Amino acid sequence: MFKSSRAHQNFKMIERQKSSRKKVVSKQREISAKPTSDEFSQFDASLRPQNFENYIGQIGLKKNLKVFLAAAKKREEPLEHVLFYGPPGLGKTTLATVLANEMGVSLRITSGPALEKAGDLAAILTNLQPGDILFIDEIHRLKTVVEEVLYSAMEDFAIDLVLGKGPSAKMMRLKIPRFTLVGATTKFSGLSSPLRDRFGSVFRLNFYENSEIEKILDRSAQILEIKIQPEACQILARSTRATPRIANRLLRRMRDFAQINHDGEIHREVVEQGLRDLGVDSLGLDDHDRRILETLIRKFAGGPAGLSTLAAATSEEMSTIEEVIEPFLLQLGFISRTPRGRIATPAAWRHLRIDLPKNLKLGI
Ligand code: ADE
Repeated sequence: MFKSSRAHQNFKMIERQKSSRKKVVSKQREISAKPTSDEFSQFDASLRPQNFENYIGQIGLKKNLKVFLAAAKKREEPLEHVLFYGPPGLGKTTLATVLANEMGVSLRITSGPALEKAGDLAAILTNLQPGDILFIDEIHRLKTVVEEVLYSAMEDFAIDLVLGKGPSAKMMRLKIPRFTLVGATTKFSGLSSPLRDRFGSVFRLNFYENSEIEKILDRSAQILEIKIQPEACQILARSTRATPRIANRLLRRMRDFAQINHDGEIHREVVEQGLRDLGVDSLGLDDHDRRILETLIRKFAGGPAGLSTLAAATSEEMSTIEEVIEPFLLQLGFISRTPRGRIATPAAWRHLRIDLPKNLKLGI
């Protein structure tokens, strides 16, 4: 995983793991159930903070979580079920890892689409140890039959099994260990209310401040032994869509550019040229973002255009537009959502350097 033993030592030094936490990280790899490839790539794994001390940003959320965690520890109980929601790449999986490490328990990772049958979930639940954390990513994509198993598991720490078929079928209630469910979703509205109601706390992850992304880039550069100039770090931070996963990915790409086209160090020219070559603009928008905005502006005169119309016109999935592309455009104030559809705001026209017609009335 590490380029050299020095990188490994850096990583260890930066993390300064508590002894109880080591158990979690190894166990997590050992027993992960079909982790989603993107969320849990080997590249991301080495950069993920393992404890609150090293976790940058999400200050309010961290403050509350620390209290709930300390209280659960004091009562010698598992943490109550936690739900994280928000756009992809902001650290939902990382927080589950941090929680497991801080509680000193094992983490089991799976995702909504990976659990095809009720039995898939039952098999995981019956194999948990008391206090373990079960992380279900994309929890809004659970099938109803699987979700129903989760209700009693979350509430009563029991699952109902049907033995046999037809009129002679019998129900049997099986006790499972007290565990903590950490759910993650990019689509909060996609969760049924019975599921939502069973979480003890619900946290929204916000986009990061530029200064926080700079710190994350610095930390990752240290772990990966990359030299990056402060000015380059600032420029790069502004192009990361305020998202740690994108920041770490761009950092690795800038390292490639620096090593092949330059002297190995990431300075301003490397970042400026690198971002141009990757088609990422000064605000971090890429081809997908610009295509959505340009379509709204050029094909629908700025909107409003309904989500399905926009998806058809851009050949993007509706869920990709809604859950991945749009949140940051909304955050930038480039799009607004109205009952009649999406609208590109004047700021979006200006950013794309498209002249706003004088008589244009945007339905904002
Ligand atoms: N790497 C990815 N996300 C991070 C975070 N929130 N803090 C520190 N390093 C990170």
